[in-house]
Amino acid sequence: MNKIIAIYGSPRRKGNTALLLKKAVEGAVEAGAEVEEIVLRDLKMSPCLEIYGCKKDGRCVIQDDFQGVYDRILACQGLMLASPIFFYTVSAHTKTLMERFQSLWVKKYWIDKAPFGKREFSRKGLFISVGATKGKRLFEGSLLTVRYFFEVLDMELWRSLLYRSLDFEGDVLKYPEYLEEAYKAGKELAQSIQG
Ligand SMILES: Cc1cc2nc3c(=O)[nH]c(=O)nc-3n(C[C@H](O)[C@H](O)[C@H](O)COP(=O)(O)O)c2cc1C
Repeated sequence: MNKIIAIYGSPRRKGNTALLLKKAVEGAVEAGAEVEEIVLRDLKMSPCLEIYGCKKDGRCVIQDDFQGVYDRILACQGLMLASPIFFYTVSAHTKTLMERFQSLWVKKYWIDKAPFGKREFSRKGLFISVGATKGKRLFEGSLLTVRYFFEVLDMELWRSLLYRSLDFEGDVLKYPEYLEEAYKAGKELAQSIQG
């Protein structure tokens, strides 16, 4: 089964990253993937509270919408994550989701005692991001964060689509080539995980 999860990490429903991710979803569906969309701003999710209730069995003990999201993300073969750049990293919605996966980190490294630095990935992730400014280092912070998050999920950062100088809602519509690139990336991701 080639199941892909698409995560909308912007607070804007029709913002630039959302429009790009929508295109990637269309591409993945076109290639025959089963795609499930998760809009983080619609969920009730606490950040990690660092109480380490997960030390018992690797499951986060905070009972909120993360519980369902956790199972769905663990069951996918491909992930498409879209987040705007906020203060040189991912949005708070996106970071909240990432923090809750500390429970999986605890399961892997503390409970199951997996060796650190394993680089065999069973799944693939696409990262889409947009920032308003033009700086060379605009995506450095988020790329580090996303790469590490994907690693916890046993996921390779398969491709990243990063666009500068887009600020207002819908700015990306002025660049059909970006939307086309997102569509193709979704399609290729789906094709690459076909088993
Ligand atoms: C809280 C906040 C922080 C931001 N920080 C940055 C930043 O550090 N660098 C940057 O280039 N743009 C920054 N921006 C601009 C957004 O990245 C930009 O508007 C982007 O197009 C939003 O994407 P979206 O429409 O998908 O939400 C920030 C915007 C907000 C609201």
